[in-house]
Amino acid sequence: MNNSHSDALVFFGATGDLAYKKIFPALQAMVKRGHLNVPVVGVAKAGWNLEQLKARAHDSLEKHGGVDQAAFEKLSSLLRYVDGDYQDAETFKALGRELKTAQRPAHYLAIPPTMFEAVLEQLTHCGCTTDARIIVEKPFGHDLESARHLNQVLLRKFDESSIFRIDHYLGKRPVHNMVVFRFTNAFMEAFWNRNYIESVQITMAEDFGVQGRGGFYDQTGTIRDVVQNHLFQVLCNLAMEAPVRMDSESIRDEKVKVLKAIAALEEKNIVRGQFRGYLDEKGVAPNSKVETFAALRLDVNSWRWHGVPFYIRAGKYLPVTCTEIVCRLRKPPTVIPADELQSNYLRFRISPDVGIAMGMMVMAPGEKLVGESAEMIASQQPNAEEMDAYERVLGDAMAGDATLFAREDYVEEAWRIVDPVLKKGTPVYPYEPKCWGPNEVERVTPPGGWHDPIVRQEPSSATKAA
Ligand code: BG6
Repeated sequence: MNNSHSDALVFFGATGDLAYKKIFPALQAMVKRGHLNVPVVGVAKAGWNLEQLKARAHDSLEKHGGVDQAAFEKLSSLLRYVDGDYQDAETFKALGRELKTAQRPAHYLAIPPTMFEAVLEQLTHCGCTTDARIIVEKPFGHDLESARHLNQVLLRKFDESSIFRIDHYLGKRPVHNMVVFRFTNAFMEAFWNRNYIESVQITMAEDFGVQGRGGFYDQTGTIRDVVQNHLFQVLCNLAMEAPVRMDSESIRDEKVKVLKAIAALEEKNIVRGQFRGYLDEKGVAPNSKVETFAALRLDVNSWRWHGVPFYIRAGKYLPVTCTEIVCRLRKPPTVIPADELQSNYLRFRISPDVGIAMGMMVMAPGEKLVGESAEMIASQQPNAEEMDAYERVLGDAMAGDATLFAREDYVEEAWRIVDPVLKKGTPVYPYEPKCWGPNEVERVTPPGGWHDPIVRQEPSSATKAA
């Protein structure tokens, strides 16, 4: 496989929800930036024609980011459409005709993983896999066994360097910036270890429910939907060692090492919750035990992190929509009583705004020698011109850069960690919408407590002291 750019993009699931919400906006943005100038072939079984697909793309753009007339016209001129069943060889013959001049197509499977195998078989039969790249959506499998099976299926047809397992969180600039921030600032290394860091907590909160995706969500749950993938990637960016080279393999090697250092999650270290009202969602089983909230503790048993607990909390219908990380430092041995002293901390805000803050003690206003916690904040609102995560990952996959994609061993290690508790089916506790999960979460709480992010509109949004 050579490294040249893909000369066609095929996306299966062209009439689906993901295409509507994320892919069309990403494609328009790529065109606008001059990064997409090859045929884009949508495939779906909807009984549609090309004009209907273009109308769908237009509608999608109106709802998600706006139509840029010039870019949309260009995108329309690149769009092709193949309608048909994914099991039917005729569908793939039609696809083959659309791809007749393409040397290195990229096939993007924006479809449920249960359909991957059938599509791959058909792609092979129609000769569309030669020198091709394959892009697959998360969740990659349902558990360790199915992920291994999927990997085998993919690796029978494609070399690992041609497989791009999307985790769009990796395409988010502030997530990538965590690595840059850590390894380009000398002062970080001095305290970024078990001697100074007491605990790490990652919160991914969403103030909405399952948004009509009950059918999908009830097969998935929070751990499979965002913890095993998005939030493990965030954890790896915080915990990894500096890569020995800047190529994608060296970076991914370091991430895999972090996961290898984490023992399988134990039952006592997880609390699952379900918001009241979830069972009334369309597509949800009436007695569903699927979690819409999870809090868990992991230990990274490496030289750097031994003894430092890493906590993850994620859920739907929480009080705010925000992803944030707080790394608390140990308290210094001052003469000030420990309970009057707040820990120093480093806070990374990933979304909705972007920021890095250092929390430290300063003298409180007044003449008394009393300390209070204050933050030094560097923050910004996301720039409208900035690449969206999907634009970035699709562009990288077509260019053959695998850095922002999960490798085979990474995916399997990630499943290994959560697999036992998923299989056991630990209790699911109810919680009221707009609360920070069920009361039982106290059992899995970082020393000093969970830091609840505060989301404000102003660019210089601060949060309450962690
Ligand atoms: C997706 C999950 O992968 O990520 C959703 O399936 C979740 O449930 C979404 O809402 C969050 O991503 P973002 O980029 O909107 O923060």
